[in-house]
Amino acid sequence: MFLQNYWYAVGWDSEIQRKPLARTICNEQIVFYRKLDGSLVALEDCCPHRMLALSKGHLEKDDIVCGYHGLTLNGNGVCVHMPDGKNPPKKSLVKSYPIVERHRFVWVWIGDVAEANEAQIPDLTWCSDPKWVSDGQTFNIKCDYKLLVDNLMDLTHENYVHPTSIGQQELMEAPIDTISDDKTATVTRWMRDIVPPPFWSANLKSDQNCDRWQICNFSLPANVMIDVGVAVTGTGAPEGDRSQGITGIVLNLMTPETETTTWYHWGMARDFDITDHGLTGRIRDAQAAVFSEDEEVLESQQQRILERPDRNLVNFAIDSGGVEARKIIQRELGRMPGVAAE
Ligand code: FES
Ligand SMILES: [Fe+2]
Repeated sequence: MFLQNYWYAVGWDSEIQRKPLARTICNEQIVFYRKLDGSLVALEDCCPHRMLALSKGHLEKDDIVCGYHGLTLNGNGVCVHMPDGKNPPKKSLVKSYPIVERHRFVWVWIGDVAEANEAQIPDLTWCSDPKWVSDGQTFNIKCDYKLLVDNLMDLTHENYVHPTSIGQQELMEAPIDTISDDKTATVTRWMRDIVPPPFWSANLKSDQNCDRWQICNFSLPANVMIDVGVAVTGTGAPEGDRSQGITGIVLNLMTPETETTTWYHWGMARDFDITDHGLTGRIRDAQAAVFSEDEEVLESQQQRILERPDRNLVNFAIDSGGVEARKIIQRELGRMPGVAAE
């Protein structure tokens, strides 16, 4: 069971093109494409005739033609051509989903169509503000999306999973502060007066000691924005003055595909060297390498969880952020009609 009445990220804006794209979201099979004017279509991916996936077909102008007998639907799911040449019924034959492009992502509404409200699209302002630059990719990871939330809300794993890139011992030693409310959970960690790891010293263009921060913010349905950065020690970053520092927002949008698989849309927005497009590509490639290390861990965890139903996850102090996020998800699921809270 997945949270309903939320906008879920389908993919980065560049992923949806003219060629029909099949993507299952929250167990719903959907086909996505762009019309000639660039606007977006999301339809139930199932031909109303003999149930071939519509994504196996092709587009004719703004309509999708089934690849079996040619039944043709417009972007609202209304039939415009019947295989037998008869007059098509003037109503939708497949479900059409609310879909919006914003902040470099494409969002689909899962739930009651009448409730769809664009004001609820997550505010990823860093992806549209010209003072920032952003890029990233999508991975399909064979794990429950909640394992990804755990992973991103507890960054002590960097020391073991990513020791050669972003891990450092101070991660284990710096205290964390965890706060939460009805819809969000935030874990804050400051590492003060430390030698910055290579990624940060190279981008700060300084080898001086730094204050490094990681502020992980979970919001429903399953988004984790991580405010990360460094500033030279003594320049006031912990007190709120980041003018001598550099900031990145690690974007993590987890869209459940099924109970045990997830579309993981990740990226980084940054406020430094924003016209350096080579750096944008290098950061994306470095992030892909780092998240591939996570992928291996997450898929292996999921496999073991499926093999060992007799065992439960155990929570330590480092898991406080993930624990809070899971409580928020569970509470919200409990508010859905017909779902009992745990
Ligand atoms: S299955 Fe699609 S037209 Fe027949
Ligand atoms: Fe990681």
